[in-house]
This record gives sequence, C-alpha cells and structure tokens, in this order.
Amino acid sequence: MDKFRIHGPVRLEGTVRASGAKNAALPALAATLLTDEPVELHRMPYVQDIRTMCRLLEHLGWEASGNGDGVTLRRSDEESRAYDAPYELVKTMRASILVLGPQLARQGRAKVSLPGGCAIGNRPIEEHLKGMQALGAEVELEGGYVHARGPRLRGAKYRFGVPTVTGTENVMMAAVLAEGTTVLDNCAREAEIAALAGQLVAMGAKISGAGSETIEIEGVPQLHGARVEIIPDRIEAGTYLIAAGITRGDVTVEDARPGDLAPLAERLGEAGVEVEEVAGGMRARAGGKLKPSLVVTEPHPGFPTDLQAQFMALMTQAEGVSTVREFVFENRFQHVPELNRMGADIRIKNRTAKVRGKTPLSGARVMATDLRASASLVLAGLAARGTTVVDRIYHLDRGYESMESKLQSLGARVERFSGPEAA
Ligand code: EPZ
Repeated sequence: MDKFRIHGPVRLEGTVRASGAKNAALPALAATLLTDEPVELHRMPYVQDIRTMCRLLEHLGWEASGNGDGVTLRRSDEESRAYDAPYELVKTMRASILVLGPQLARQGRAKVSLPGGCAIGNRPIEEHLKGMQALGAEVELEGGYVHARGPRLRGAKYRFGVPTVTGTENVMMAAVLAEGTTVLDNCAREAEIAALAGQLVAMGAKISGAGSETIEIEGVPQLHGARVEIIPDRIEAGTYLIAAGITRGDVTVEDARPGDLAPLAERLGEAGVEVEEVAGGMRARAGGKLKPSLVVTEPHPGFPTDLQAQFMALMTQAEGVSTVREFVFENRFQHVPELNRMGADIRIKNRTAKVRGKTPLSGARVMATDLRASASLVLAGLAARGTTVVDRIYHLDRGYESMESKLQSLGARVERFSGPEAA
C-alpha cells in the first residue's frame, strides 16, 4: 500500500505544469465509442482512472495505443465484442457510466453496471437515465445493471432536475446520432462540458450552447475520427495554487486557465493569497497573514466542490473563523477528522464546517479516504511541523499525475514508499 512521507514545514517555490484534466479525459475516451475511426487524444493524464477507462473500452472491442503524449482509440477488428460494462470494472470507477450514452447511440443497446455510491455520497444517476428515456430509449434496472435499448433515438427536449456534469455529458453523447434535434436545459456548465462538445463537433456532431445551461444538438447519421487535445486540469492547477498559499510560497502553474479558476482565485485573493494571470498560466504568492473566508460549493460557475477540501486545509492557517459549506455532495468532509488530528480546529454541523484558525499543524499519520481529501492532507503535511505519513495514496493516484515529483520540483520534501496497511 503506497504512502507519502512529507517533512514540513516547507515553502514551495517554482513552476509546475498542469496535466490534462482527468474529468475531461474520461468523457473524451467514452466518446471514441461513437465512431469506428481512430480518435487521437493528446495531453492525456497518466492516472489510474484513465487506465481503468481504457481497459473498459478494450473490453467493449476498442484498441488503445500510445501516441506520444496520449492515446489513440480505434475499433478493433476482432469479431467478439462485449457490449456490457461489467461490475468488476465499474465498481472501481463510477465514471464508467459514461459509456452508456455512446453505446446506446451507436449500438442501439447498452448494459452498464450501476456505479453505486462512493465515499463522498450516494451519487445517483437517475438524471442520466431520464435523459436517455426522453430520447426514446427503454431503460430497465435489473441485477445491479442498467439495461438500455434504443435502436433509433429521436431528438427531444429534456430539462435536467439538477445540473449534473456526467449526466450532461452522457445525454449529450446519446443525442449526437439521434434523429432530429435535442434541446437540453439546466445543463452543467463546468469546463469539461464545452471540451467534450468541442471533441464531438470535431468528430462531425452538430452542437451549440455547451458551457451554458442550454445545449442544442442536431443529430447526424454518423461521426468520424478526430485529433483532440485534452484541456488542462483546473482542479489539479487549483490544488497547486492553494499549496502556494498554505506554504507561504510562490508557485506558477503553467497552462492553468484563469477562466476555469475564477471562483478559486477570488476566494484566494480574499484570504490574502495573491493570484495573477501570467504568460501561459497562473501564479499564486502568499505574503502576509491569511484571512478567514466563507466558501459555498456549487455547480459551476460557483466554487468547485473538488477544491473544497484543499481550501479548507488552507483555512486552518487563516487568522479567524472560516465557514465552508458543502452543498454539492452529502459526505465530503472526511478530511476533517484527519486535519483535526494534525492540530486543526474544525467543527461540522450538517453541511457546514467552521474552521477556527490559525492553528499550528503537526505532522501525523493520516489516512486518505477519497481523491480530494487526500490532496487536502498532503497540503496540510507541507505546512505541518514534523513528519506526516499519508496512507492509501492510491486515492491520490486516481486523479493527480506524478504529484510527488511535481511537489519535489517546488522544493517539497516528499517521498512515496510502500509498507503494510497503517496499524
Ligand atoms: C463530476 O461527478 C466529477 N467527476 C466529480 O469529480 C465532481 O465532484 C462532480 O462532477 C461535481 O463537479 C467526473 O467528471 C468524472 P454530478 P458527477 O452528477 O458527474 C447529484 C473528482 O474528484 N445528482 O455533477 O458524478 C449528485 O448526487 C470527482 O474528480 C443527482 O441527484 O457529479 C450531486 O449531489 C469527484 N442525480 C450533484 O448532483 C443525478 O442523476 C452533482 O453531481 C446525478 C447527479
């Protein structure tokens, strides 16, 4: 079981480059199911979730081959192809549900294991299914699987009950080959939605409005291959900007896109971390005292839930009481007990955490529970006095490419090692 050993405190200085966004690369991979022609994806992050999705696509009869800084997907010419996304694969990565829309659109049928919940919440997918039904698909839940059939989907109007990121992506991919026009309302507006729409258009789809709450898709008979560049990872970039803040450092993140990180930049500025747009990226510098903040997580363009845990670690070093409200997921405060074991003073009531700072942090053995909670503990370890061991780093490996080497390049004293499960 891999762990990180971090010696702190440290002041991070220097430049790192944002990798391709995991949450853009996953739908990008699923979308390759919409054509038999090769689709070249570049700037792919080499993280566990990507490898899992490639395995799933190979199970479905596609071939993944390296192309330098990414992977090219093409339909394999073997006859035997499964059409189901099995539980064994889906249980390790919920985003496997993203093959449902493209499989249904292209094969007229799909069988995908229900993803089930995860550490941060029960993660329902009824919006995905209702969107597909609006397009004329028959959907049944049986034996822990979604069974969908729809030989010829028809364009329709559908309003999402909640702005769901993968739900918007899934239904958009289902609609691109439907007969007629689809209008989706109350869509998610995260950067990854517009990125996926850009890829689908490059493959021959007709889509307008992606990135806004209303997306219009005019069905086309088929899609073709394309060459696509994955957008930079705004959550990874944001994590390193926060790292500059918590270590009182000076970090530049190449390829960070200010438009994707405006809500974070605003909160960091309020807290006393100076964030500026520089040529080709963003720079964060922390000088004086950190000030407390109020953060409420919301769908884009609100503060991203995926940066809540990392920002909370920063707030333990602010002089005063900060408030963090997690309104997107119901159980996304699992980093709190571990931060408190390092000396933080955080109290939770319902979906609100009160962070009383400034509290000196001391190194400790801590346990990662989910991807972004892990990042929060690493940030705290960088600022803590002494040695911090973060266990179950596999959570981090799902979404952060080479985190230890990127941190080392900024001056962090962090090393990966493996050892028995923490006693
Ligand atoms: C995506 O998950 C991201 N994952 C998550 O990133 C991210 O936290 C989340 O969007 C919110 O930004 C990928 O893109 C692969 P949602 P997704 O559907 O699509 C409720 C990470 O750390 N909802 O937008 O699963 C749901 O319960 C991961 O990289 C329904 O009620 O999130 C939640 O409260 C974690 N019914 C809210 O919507 C539905 O049918 C937002 O969920 C679907 C969702």
